[in-house]
Amino acid sequence: MAHAGTLTINRLNKDYRVKDKNLHILDNVSLSIAPGEFVSIVGSSGCGKSTLLRLIIGLEEDYKGEILLDGKPISGTSLDRGIVFQEHRLFPWLSVEQNVGLALQNSSLSDSEKQRSIQEHIELVGLRGFEKAYPYQLSGGMSQRVAIARGLVNRPEILLLDEPFGALDAMTKYNLQKELQHIWEAEGITMILVTHDVEEAVYLGDRVVIMEPRPGRIKRIVPVPLERPRNRMALNFVRIKEEILGEFGINHQEEEALIPALAA
Ligand SMILES: Nc1ncnc2c1ncn2[C@@H]1O[C@H](COP(=O)(O)OP(=O)(O)OP(=O)(O)O)[C@@H](O)[C@H]1O
Ligand SMILES: [Mg+2]
Repeated sequence: MAHAGTLTINRLNKDYRVKDKNLHILDNVSLSIAPGEFVSIVGSSGCGKSTLLRLIIGLEEDYKGEILLDGKPISGTSLDRGIVFQEHRLFPWLSVEQNVGLALQNSSLSDSEKQRSIQEHIELVGLRGFEKAYPYQLSGGMSQRVAIARGLVNRPEILLLDEPFGALDAMTKYNLQKELQHIWEAEGITMILVTHDVEEAVYLGDRVVIMEPRPGRIKRIVPVPLERPRNRMALNFVRIKEEILGEFGINHQEEEALIPALAA
């Protein structure tokens, strides 16, 4: 099992300069994430969710505030932080095992340890038997499984997921959400999931961080004190989901009340 890290974000501010204009993208974002916690982040398009993940992963270093992993400021990208994007970003000319193995380029493991980690993670995401397959031979869901295996193969302390299931059909998405929860439990690592899907956020998260735009900031953090695996139909689940949707001005009861009126 990998070691999970404590992530502390203190008064994070991020600006971009576009044509001599300063754009304030992230405004005073503070968030502390416990080792092994699952945190979901939801918010409207453009509110800075991917920017926040890019800063945590270390792809950009131009920001104000602190990002600490186990008390130490993060510096650049590192094997202790993995990421999965919405598009799987697999190399078409590499097989499944080669795509997963690519993430081990900078690893200090021996060749046989690398092989073992690759096989273990391909198995973990349910792709045993597809080691030699190429991306064109995989479905969208299978490709996303490969991307998850690649994100995990270095046994990171934290896995960041940026809308990993956004492009998948509903059934594939349900299955992968269930499996991601098993993987999170098996690996015992910290996960941060950005999603547009409030149900997905509640299904997976210990907490749901709601962000608002211009500038991107945390509006509210909603705890999800429900046992896993969660039942999407349970009253408590639906209540939390509705509460979060309410933050976006979406009220299903009002919508439902409208249906008979519209049918009349
Ligand atoms: N490299 C960049 N240069 C200038 N502005 C940028 C850059 N990257 C992002 N932005 C701006 O920062 C804001 C936040 O973008 P970001 O991609 O983080 O949003 P998001 O919440 O992930 O949106 P979505 O849900 O659509 O993925 C947007 O207004 C975007 O135009
Ligand atoms: Mg984004």
